[in-house]
Amino acid sequence: MCGIFGYMGRKNALPLLVEGLRRLEYRGYDSTGVAINNGEGIVTHKTVGKVTDLKEILPDHIEGTTGIAHTRWATHGGVTQVNTHPHASSDGAVHLVHNGIIENFRHLRRHLSTSGIECVSETDSEVLVQLIAQELASGSTPLQSVQTTLKRVRGTWGVCIMFRDHDELICARNGSPLIIGQGQNEMFVSSDPHPLTSHTQRVIYLDDGDIAVLTPTSINMTSSVKGRSVEPNVTVLEEAWSESELGDAPHYMHKEIYEQPDALRQCIAGRVDREMGTGRLGGMRLGHETLMQAPHVRLLGCGTANIAAEIGQMLIEKMARIPAVTHISSEFRNNDPVINPKALYLAVSQSGETADTISAVKEIKLKGGQVFGVVNVVGSTIARLCGQGVYIHSGPEQSVASTKAFTNMVAALTVFATQLGRTRHLSKEQGRDIIDHLQQTPHLMEKYFENEGPLHEAVDLLAAAKSVLFLGRGLSASVAREGALKLMELAYIPCLAYPAGEMKHGPIALLEKGSPVVVIAPNDHLKEKTLSALHECKARGAKIILIHDEGDSIAEEGDVSIAVPANHPYLTPLLTVLPLQLLAYHTALRLGRDVDRPRNLAKSVTVE
Ligand code: G6P
Repeated sequence: MCGIFGYMGRKNALPLLVEGLRRLEYRGYDSTGVAINNGEGIVTHKTVGKVTDLKEILPDHIEGTTGIAHTRWATHGGVTQVNTHPHASSDGAVHLVHNGIIENFRHLRRHLSTSGIECVSETDSEVLVQLIAQELASGSTPLQSVQTTLKRVRGTWGVCIMFRDHDELICARNGSPLIIGQGQNEMFVSSDPHPLTSHTQRVIYLDDGDIAVLTPTSINMTSSVKGRSVEPNVTVLEEAWSESELGDAPHYMHKEIYEQPDALRQCIAGRVDREMGTGRLGGMRLGHETLMQAPHVRLLGCGTANIAAEIGQMLIEKMARIPAVTHISSEFRNNDPVINPKALYLAVSQSGETADTISAVKEIKLKGGQVFGVVNVVGSTIARLCGQGVYIHSGPEQSVASTKAFTNMVAALTVFATQLGRTRHLSKEQGRDIIDHLQQTPHLMEKYFENEGPLHEAVDLLAAAKSVLFLGRGLSASVAREGALKLMELAYIPCLAYPAGEMKHGPIALLEKGSPVVVIAPNDHLKEKTLSALHECKARGAKIILIHDEGDSIAEEGDVSIAVPANHPYLTPLLTVLPLQLLAYHTALRLGRDVDRPRNLAKSVTVE
């Protein structure tokens, strides 16, 4: 989703801003622009399209060592050059980039109009820059102008503001992430850590209500929440979070799919105790008492994270025998949920910045609940809000379609379920068996990648389909959901995922001769029942793409059968999802789609 990058220092700003934008590209966007203060005025260039399109219209050189830049993912107003950020005030004194949504912008726009200031764009963001300029013109300092303006607006913001006549950048946060990178006589501003790591490891995460005034050598912060100035809290980023480069891989998604065995090793290393048959998630800070007394577990997430949470929910019920429920984050707060302070709430998120999940976390905390993050990005908002939890250690995930974060979320939740299970119903032997198989899983993933099966035959069927049905039971019903989500996101083919038993209650109406149906049927206690649904599809002329365990005679039932190595019945999703990721990837390529940046989607969805 929208990305902010800002620079102030001694170097020429333009190449740094363009490089910053390039590193924000993975978040998903539709237009982009830069503004640079050249000492005499502010030069702005913006365009609809990609950073490469912007590069084409940029001059080779723009003088100036202070600048702001933005990638926009349209919310208010169409994808046009005028709506692209940076936005400027009518008098040219203030330029701004904004992430988030200003809810009362219509009212503020009318108010500006009555005082003779007409907004030129359709965006909600422009009112901010006009209001700040109005304050500035009335004699306020830049900081006072920003403070007064932010008191008048309702909504969410991460903003970076540049002034024509003042040598400072001001940034502020409320609900949309913003990070300051502190270099040697230079400052960077970014909406996530990716663009910062090549410049500095020293970062300051802004909290909601923070406003920071930056010069190349100083940071002055105030907090509207605390009502006073605050000391910047510097965090040193871990080396491991350095920029992920594509290397020889054709796409980030390809790279990340094949990184899964190593990512999984990273995720479970040091977190399992084979001897005791249990998990050891230190960051959860879970005492025996808390685990013993928890009446239930509720998990939250969006998109792929929600599906990983659903698998976690089933594993918790299987191993710990306590009720677990998964919620779609965006539905959670609106339904005024009842929060039990003894229950365990898990917020699952790759980016740790998904606005819907952040709202859910805040709702739980407000009502006295304890929330644990299951998060990939270190230092992200959800990780910091929860203050406890487990980092899934996937390393940077750049492709919009989540792959290695999914398998690591499932693995981390498996370890958690084992830990919870061992305080209750899971025996040491059962726990050990699961851990042994989990530790073997990276190797089994590698084994699958050595022989991926007839993927291209399956792609022939999928690429020509009007719609695709995905079926599975139990854990595999969730894998079916993930397979459908991936194919839909990447190939833009309508996909439907159903628990196999429910297929006859509706989706069967869609089947025609030749309709592809993807069936996930590992060799577990549900396989025979899944087979009935498969036969019902076949009887109506459907073509079956079957994902099954290696060596299982069920292979004969598929029109295209793809085998994965057999695993513990609780761990089958970690293998059956791999061919589904590859099918989505290859089908998207066959149809000429941009696999790393699918249309309309964003990697990190920072608005509700
Ligand atoms: C977006 C992405 C999905 C992702 C979801 C949740 O919709 O396109 O790939 O699963 O957000 O993101 P999170 O960062 O919270 O896991």
